[in-house]
Amino acid sequence: MTFIVADNCVKCKHTDCVEVCPVDCFYEGPNFLVIHPDECIDCALCEPECPVDAIFSEDEVPEGQEVYVELNAELAEVWPNITEKKDPPADHAEWDGVENKLQYLER
Ligand code: SF4
Ligand code: F3S
Repeated sequence: MTFIVADNCVKCKHTDCVEVCPVDCFYEGPNFLVIHPDECIDCALCEPECPVDAIFSEDEVPEGQEVYVELNAELAEVWPNITEKKDPPADHAEWDGVENKLQYLER
């Protein structure tokens, strides 16, 4: 079992999540973060830290966001590791709650 980052992280990218992960298994793209499924120990600490509720247990991914399970696994192999919080994008608040942000995900 793993936790995954889903749609609402795209363009919000607060990075509070990385500070609490005991195994440092977050990886950073231009406007989204992912969790490496083979490194996540399923501790659940990150889930409540996300200000926009973008983190889910693999078995509780919202309907329509299932594609993010594979995306976390795929992108965690190519993106660099991130362990320290940084400022979110200046326009993050405008994107909180916008649906179907997959089209905006930059690789
Ligand atoms: Fe890290 Fe725990 Fe979140 Fe997995 S569930 S990504 S180990 S904080
Ligand atoms: Fe994204 Fe939430 Fe982490 S917006 S970067 S999953 S704190």
